[in-house]
Order: sequence, then structure tokens, then C-alpha cells
Amino acid sequence: MIDVNDCREDNFDSIPIDAFWNTGKEKELKMHRIHAYPAKFPAFITTKALGFAKQNNLDAKRIADVFCGCGTVALEAKRNNINFWGCDVNPVATMIARTKSHKYQPQRLKRYYNAILEVFTKSDNEDSSYKQANERLKYWYGKKQYEDLSRLKFAIGDTVPSNSSYSLFFLCAFSNILKPTSRWLTKSIKPQIDPNKEPADVISVFKEQCHFMMIANKESDAAWHAKNEIVTGNFLDASIKHPTVDMIITSPPYVTSYEYADLHQLSSLWLGYTEDYRELRNGSIGSLYHVYNFDKELKRLNNTGTEIVFRLLSQYKSKARAVAKYFLDMQNVAKACFSMLSDNGIALFVIGNTEYKGVRIDNARHLSESLQNSGFSQVFITKRKITKKILTPYRDETGRFTTDGGGRKVYSEEFILIGRK
Ligand SMILES: C[S@@+](CC[C@H](N)C(=O)[O-])C[C@H]1O[C@@H](n2cnc3c(N)ncnc32)[C@H](O)[C@@H]1O
Repeated sequence: MIDVNDCREDNFDSIPIDAFWNTGKEKELKMHRIHAYPAKFPAFITTKALGFAKQNNLDAKRIADVFCGCGTVALEAKRNNINFWGCDVNPVATMIARTKSHKYQPQRLKRYYNAILEVFTKSDNEDSSYKQANERLKYWYGKKQYEDLSRLKFAIGDTVPSNSSYSLFFLCAFSNILKPTSRWLTKSIKPQIDPNKEPADVISVFKEQCHFMMIANKESDAAWHAKNEIVTGNFLDASIKHPTVDMIITSPPYVTSYEYADLHQLSSLWLGYTEDYRELRNGSIGSLYHVYNFDKELKRLNNTGTEIVFRLLSQYKSKARAVAKYFLDMQNVAKACFSMLSDNGIALFVIGNTEYKGVRIDNARHLSESLQNSGFSQVFITKRKITKKILTPYRDETGRFTTDGGGRKVYSEEFILIGRK
């Protein structure tokens, strides 16, 4: 760990990799893999972070993840019997996080599962349902897949008490089969149709998905009693009431990387979170679609933010606006995290740099300056290797890795930034 005040150079390139943060000792629980989610971080980061806190005389009794995504920290907190508060603006994320961090009675799951299949088998596809479907869903699904999915959703609703944790379990399973059963280009992080794809059979993938989740539930050693509260909303929104916590462990969104609302549109539409998925871009930090007064707000950027935004501005004006908004939001995040922590509390961020057309977006440097400006008495930094080996460090338009240097650069290292109150 290096005190950021001792990093005299402009970027953090010379910071050595600290192997402590590279890998974990334990095999990750299957529960962490019940639903695809972009940019989720490895579960062992939580264990390491709690270990780091202990070494530094902090007994974390309540922790938070202010960008909880699919609930990696939420589940690890439960396993460690620590109270948890989490927040994410994306309702699909909080749905997965709640499911993951819950422990289910295996027999009850099995009973509901059999009943869902029975209702599904006994019911017929309604001829008119495809005609009346949301236009966006018709874009992604053929008639057969759409009707089978409607029938399956009806069977879940008819069998499992709504608003119960068991309903969440089966809706989470349903949500994770929506891409394979659609025309969505497999593994693409941009919404794109694959004209050659043969969409999977709905009930076969649902069965596989439920089996996997039931095995994962049995394996999960999440404690039953630790409290966990997971809120859907914008962390920066004043209406979000958060408790005081001893520690924050989180990985913030990036700009120019993922448009979460677009990526989860199938789930948001099917699960009824919205009629128009674009509404869910509101409040999502790092989205390219925010409307705000750029000229007025620019003055609030810190030094790192100003420098990067001006480098982008001459050539890529709309990207510069998006990046500026991202930096402004992250400055507010640093302040909000500071005020949420108990005295001596620790905030730990896993954050990587990105690059846009040769302009480096120094997220780590920007956040470290933001933490210092927010009142953290000490800010430390170290670097870790991202375990998956990335030999081709660029992504193409669909988000696939490529050797084409004109693409968006992704790095194989990221930073751990720690602020102590
Ligand atoms: C890098 S991901 C976090 C992944 C998480 N660590 C995991 O393992 O699943 C960043 C998350 O921030 C969320 N996010 C973006 N803007 C937000 C906001 N204003 N308030 C709360 N969450 C937000 C995104 O929806 C996304 O899930």
C-alpha cells in the first residue's frame, strides 16, 4: 500500500502489483455465478478487504457496497455474518443481489419448481400474446420463444407467492435465460441481433438454470441471521437513506464502458421494471445519455478531471461531456462515502483506468484526488492483476476482445484505492 501523497508522478503507472490482491485461497461459491453480470469483481476481494481492515484495527460490524451490482459483497457479507447495506440503480442488479444473498429451504424450492413445470405443461400458448407484446421484446424474440417465456412467467406467478424471496429465486432464474432464448448476440455487451443464432429452447434452459441454482443454494454457507438491506436507487439521490457503516467495499461504474440499462433491457422489460428501458439510464453513473449544464458544471471538476476533460474536448465533444459528468458524479460519490462512514472507517474501491481513442481516462487518479478533497485523512493505493489473462487489450464495437488498436482499450491491471476517515 502506498500513500497517494508519495506518488509524485502524474499517473500511477510505476505502482508495483501487490500479489496479495491478485487471487483468493478459496474456490468461489457457485452462488456467485447464478446470473451473468458485467464487471462483477472476484468474491475474494471482500475477504481480503475485511482482513486488511482487521490488520488496521477496524472491526467491521456493518459494511456497505454503494454500487452493489449483482451482490458479490452482499453474499460475502452474509457468509461472514456481517450486516450489509447495498444499493444499485439497476433493478436487475438488486434482484440478483437479493436472490444471491438469501438462503433458501431446498425442499421448498423443489416443490415450487415441480409446480411451475406442471402449470407450464398444462397451459397453452395464447395465440394473441405475441401480437400484443412490447415492440422491443418482439424485436428480440420470435413467436415461439416469446410465447413460451410468457407461459413460464405466468406459471411462476401462479405458483410462487409474489413478493416472497422464493418468487425472486425463480424470477432470477427466468431472467438469466432471457438472452440465450433471444436473438441477442451471445456474450455481446452491446445490444445486437445475431441473425444466425438458434435461440435456446425455453423450458430446457430454465430446467438447467434452476438445477444449477438449487445446487448453488445447497452449497452456499451464507449465514441466516446477518441483516442485509438492498436498495434500488441512485446512491447520490438525497431520498436514499443509508445507515452509518464501518466499511465500504465497492467497484464503481466506468464511463464509456457499459450502458447497464441497455444491457439488461430484456430482464427489465420482462420483469416489468419499465415499459421503456431507456428510462433506466437516468441516474446511472457513467451513462452516455445524461443531459446537464456542461458549461456551468465544468468549474466543479477537480484538477485531474479538468485535465482529462480538456484533452478530450477539442476532438470528442460529446464524449468529453459524458466523461465530465462521470467525474462530477464520482466526486459526489467520494463525499457521500465519507459522510456514510463511522469515525476511522475505511472505504475501499476497486477501480481501473480506461482509454478513449488514445486519451487515457485516469479513473484511479481522479478518484484518489476526490477522496483527498472529501476529507479522508489518509488515501492509499495499490495495484492488482486482473486474473483473466487478456492478450488482446482492445474491445470492438460489440465489446468483444480484438487486436485492433483502434478499439477501446481495456487494461489487465486495476487499482485498489483505500480512504481512511
Ligand atoms: C462495476 S459494477 C459493480 C459490480 C459489483 N461489484 C458486482 O460484483 O456485481 C457498477 C454498478 O454501479 C451501478 N450504478 C451506476 N450508477 C449508480 C448509481 N447512481 N447508484 C447506484 N448504483 C449505480 C451499476 O448499475 C453497476 O451495477
